[in-house]
Amino acid sequence: MAYNLLKGKRGIIFGALDENSIAWKTAQLAHDEGATFVLTNAPVAMRMGQINELAKKTGSEIIPADATNVEDLENLITKSVEILGGKLDFVLHSIGMSVNVRKGNHYTDQNYKYTEKGWDVSAVSFHKVMQTLHKNDAMQEWGSIVALTYMAAQRTFPDYNDMADNKAYLESIARSFGYFFGKDKKVRVNTISQSPTPTTAGSGVKGFDGFLSYAEKMSPLGNATAQDCAEYTVTLFSDYTKKVTMQNLFHDGGFSNTGVSQEVIEKF
Ligand SMILES: NC(=O)c1ccc[n+]([C@@H]2O[C@H](COP(=O)([O-])OP(=O)(O)OC[C@H]3O[C@@H](n4cnc5c(N)ncnc54)[C@H](O)[C@@H]3O)[C@@H](O)[C@H]2O)c1
Repeated sequence: MAYNLLKGKRGIIFGALDENSIAWKTAQLAHDEGATFVLTNAPVAMRMGQINELAKKTGSEIIPADATNVEDLENLITKSVEILGGKLDFVLHSIGMSVNVRKGNHYTDQNYKYTEKGWDVSAVSFHKVMQTLHKNDAMQEWGSIVALTYMAAQRTFPDYNDMADNKAYLESIARSFGYFFGKDKKVRVNTISQSPTPTTAGSGVKGFDGFLSYAEKMSPLGNATAQDCAEYTVTLFSDYTKKVTMQNLFHDGGFSNTGVSQEVIEKF
């Protein structure tokens, strides 16, 4: 059921790779809620072609951009404002990648070239996106910018590897840039700290299935799915959350505040 929560709103959605992606589900729901937007992803992800299907379904244009490349971001943002016919009301940063995780390097044995690359893609890209939006004055007043994160930024999950550090940095950028975006343009900036979710990025983490079941058993409401995350994200893009900014918002069925659950005790 749609509520027209985003009627007339314009945006950019980063990171829809396939139908499991959190960004994919968010794009579908934003469309149902009345938004128009541009879809973007790294040129290499485009070659897989699935994003075309989503663009068709949502009546969106696709503009490829490597989120670590400021020229790409300039092009994406200026063209999006032209195509959509006005400044942006919302932006979703749904991007993450660790080369160390991909290559199976242990946290205590990182290749620092890989560390830098993962940091740039997963964290600094959020600053680059916001700096480009800010310089181009591309956000509408009372607009909303959201990035996705994970609780390994606060607590240790050994197999999350260097992504834990990247997420801590990402969350700090949301607070720091959120201050200036709020003061200068009345734009809010938040991160959503999502439950483990079976997507391409999520499943890349070693031992992901165990991780997922453990979180399910530890969360009073169960894990939040990608669809649940899309729903929460849409509320943050809507006019009902105008004064929420510079927050890291846990969206995890209660996992983050649970010490232990009955199910987990019974396992022992
Ligand atoms: N899946 C989980 O368990 C989980 C949990 C909490 C937070 N998150 C976060 O949610 C976000 C979305 O991930 P997902 O789970 O939907 O997985 P996903 O693999 O579907 O999405 C990750 C996206 O990042 C894009 N990307 C990678 N490098 C890029 C670059 N240089 N420029 C532009 N885009 C690039 C990929 O193409 C892909 O579309 C990520 O920030 C992830 O860390 C995921």
